[in-house]
Amino acid sequence: MSEIAKLELNGKLYELPIIEGSENEKGIDISKLRSTTNGYITIDPGFKNTGSTKSGITYLDGENGILRYRGYPIEQLAEKASFLEVSFLIIYGDLPTKTELDSFKESITNHTLVHEDMKQFFEAYPAKAHPMGVLASMVCSLSTFYPESLDHNRTPEAKDLTIHRLIAKLPTLAAWSYKNAMRHPFMYPNNNFDYCENFLHMMFAMPTSEYKTDSTIVSALNKLLILHADHEQNCSTSTVRIVGSSHANLYASVSAGISALWGPLHGGANQAVIEMLNQIADDGGDVDKWVAKAKDKNDTFRLMGFGHRVYKNFDPRATIIKKACDDVLNKLGVKDPLLEIAKKLEKVALEDEYFKARNLYPNVDFYSGIIYKAINIPTEMFTVMFALGRLPGWIAQWKEMIQNDEPIGRPRQIYNGKNHRDYIPVEKR
Ligand code: CMC
Repeated sequence: MSEIAKLELNGKLYELPIIEGSENEKGIDISKLRSTTNGYITIDPGFKNTGSTKSGITYLDGENGILRYRGYPIEQLAEKASFLEVSFLIIYGDLPTKTELDSFKESITNHTLVHEDMKQFFEAYPAKAHPMGVLASMVCSLSTFYPESLDHNRTPEAKDLTIHRLIAKLPTLAAWSYKNAMRHPFMYPNNNFDYCENFLHMMFAMPTSEYKTDSTIVSALNKLLILHADHEQNCSTSTVRIVGSSHANLYASVSAGISALWGPLHGGANQAVIEMLNQIADDGGDVDKWVAKAKDKNDTFRLMGFGHRVYKNFDPRATIIKKACDDVLNKLGVKDPLLEIAKKLEKVALEDEYFKARNLYPNVDFYSGIIYKAINIPTEMFTVMFALGRLPGWIAQWKEMIQNDEPIGRPRQIYNGKNHRDYIPVEKR
């Protein structure tokens, strides 16, 4: 017999169906609650208990530290796959055949250039502009160069072209936002490079000197992008889905996702972690003092890179990144004092009752910043790197939402403001 939830309200019994996922996760379907109960809604600030959709893209078990894209464990993908292969998997549902992958790569490689007119947009930004602000604006601006992307009912092939363009151009826009901040000349994409190499080339080559491929750096970047590729209904992805649910185009939806990612509680945490470690180092490196500050409820300081809404045991991405971080630093021969502080901080926090009781463990952003730093990515670009990685997830979630013909996202509220009052002219107030 299928399960049913029963809700007793004012002496009346309501039956609520149970939805079950393919990994046996369960949800109570309250979609008809308001109409059947004469106006009752559910309240769940921050959507801590609310499933906004059924999705077949990413499976996440926060209690057991499991993360799978389309059924494949993150550990296997991070070890063995390329970022474009994983992007194809996430967006189209299965790992590509050799022919599919070749044609996907070719399409992405052929769309890496951005329209020359876009260069003028970059030049108008102040040198100090944060690259996330620039990136969000540039991605939205792509819609003005490809107005056909505004047509919600275009063919699947036309939608794929928009998707490929976005994947191809995001590294160009990201690298140019950095070059612009440095007031260095923009480096054009080079189609002889693969996805990660090409990004590094656009970041670090100069008209006077070539980018020399370093396999340790390319492979670290590939891994980091894969680890960030999707994470089900997080803040930025929910933003992409909700913006897209109004039938806004893909560029506008992803641009909104980039803005949501920017905050230090989400993707901006990787920048915040390095800033925090620097702050601790500058203050003399007394880790205990900063752990005490993080525990003090009268102090707004939090340990950045610790805690997660859904992982309550460990973040499997952090486990992989921690190892990758050691490998990269060893191979590159980098001795980073910040890594020592990070390790001390992790040890102290993990043994502390406050952190244990609240299940606060290092998350993906705790070590990613140290790798980015070791491969010379400037701190302000860290969240941009997260955006590069998260792009296939945003696209896949947008595509799934459109394919499922999901209704416009529009939560309700409980109003707790003033009751009716009459307008009084200003001279009488
Ligand atoms: N340092 C100190 N205390 C913390 C921290 C922290 N980093 N994170 C949570 N807590 C405490 C919090 O004060 C609360 O304590 P109490 O129960 O006594 O009130 C308890 O732990 C639960 O925290 P919460 O804020 O209710 O949990 P949440 O699920 O709403 O927030 C979070 C999750 C990630 C926003 C939060 O842990 C945080 O602010 N972490 C630091 C920022 C960070 O690293 N963000 C990156 C997340 S991973 C990348 C991504 O996918 O976005």
